[in-house]
Amino acid sequence: MENRKLRSAIIGCGNIFPMHAVPVSKNPYTQLTAVCDIKPERAQSAAHRFSCRGYTDYKRMLDEERPDVVHICTPHYLHAPLACYAMQQGCHVLTEKPMAIKLKDARRMLDTAESTGKTLGVIFQNRYNAGSQLIRQCLDSGELGQVQAGRLLLTWNRSSEYYSQSDWKGTWEKEGGGVVIDQAIHTLDLMRWFFGKPVVQVKASLSNWTHPNILVEDTAEGRIEFEGGAYCAFYVMNHFCVDEAVRLELFCERGKAVMEGPKATVSLYNGRTYIADNDPSQVFEYGDVKQYWGTSHVKQINNFYDSILGRGAMYIRAEDAFHTQELICAIYHEGCAHFARGNT
Ligand SMILES: NC(=O)c1ccc[n+]([C@@H]2O[C@H](COP(=O)([O-])OP(=O)(O)OC[C@H]3O[C@@H](n4cnc5c(N)ncnc54)[C@H](O)[C@@H]3O)[C@@H](O)[C@H]2O)c1
Repeated sequence: MENRKLRSAIIGCGNIFPMHAVPVSKNPYTQLTAVCDIKPERAQSAAHRFSCRGYTDYKRMLDEERPDVVHICTPHYLHAPLACYAMQQGCHVLTEKPMAIKLKDARRMLDTAESTGKTLGVIFQNRYNAGSQLIRQCLDSGELGQVQAGRLLLTWNRSSEYYSQSDWKGTWEKEGGGVVIDQAIHTLDLMRWFFGKPVVQVKASLSNWTHPNILVEDTAEGRIEFEGGAYCAFYVMNHFCVDEAVRLELFCERGKAVMEGPKATVSLYNGRTYIADNDPSQVFEYGDVKQYWGTSHVKQINNFYDSILGRGAMYIRAEDAFHTQELICAIYHEGCAHFARGNT
């Protein structure tokens, strides 16, 4: 185990930046030494807030700062090239979701991690939510038995302004898709994690019903079949009136699990019921960020540092995140064949 503090740097100082910067600055084993954003005012303001150096060129930052760990909080199309470059420069990398846009790029990230011996992590913080943990435990203990079928419903709101105010969201090249790769990816990851088996077939259709200013989908539905025949039906869209709590249901041999937002209820057919929800008294103050992002970033970030320092195993391995990328890419592969636009 190393004794000195790890030196960390963050690339991308936009919306999600505080969810990384605050946990890093509070982790006793690391110090935030530098931040980078191509927008100078963002880099300067983030550097000022966290008393570190600010850069507008990530290559220069890595060259001058030689950080041990790099967090990637940039638009999606940059995750793979930045992660590979940073690992080749000797850094461990924790990237925001999605791992990449294309599967071949995600594969390159895994290969680079292996060839450089560096640790690669991908943020899927909702696995740490109390409800997710309860369902995982009831599956691991065998109390729920095998998963037979699942349903996933995500109805959120991303307005036209949400897209028009961003220079990368709503584009195939930079975001890689819409509601599937950006908003629903968390719940699709949870679903895949709960089923715990390889995906063998994906049927999907994609549509854009209400966002004339973007080219990607705002609605997706489909069926995911897992090895052994279990399957999940999903419907996700981001033109609802509010960000309603995501609903995920698992129909299992010995009971049913229902997750609404971070809360889960497991009802076993033997009459026993378990309920778990995030504890509102367990607050982690990230600053001014959106509530629907959850409060579990700090848990995954701390686990990432613990695993680097040999203080514990990595809870969400990059190889596992790769399988979620495979699922996302399969939905696009299948859905793009008959992509429907309601606004053209
Ligand atoms: N885990 C979650 O719940 C969650 C929530 C929101 C966003 N995210 C993810 O976080 C990432 C960033 O999203 P966001 O909403 O913060 O986006 P954003 O647009 O607010 O911020 C991205 C920042 O990256 C900067 N940037 C772009 N190119 C750069 C480069 N070459 N070098 C340095 N900086 C560069 C931009 O100037 C911008 O400030 C995305 O992958 C997104 O999916 C995850």
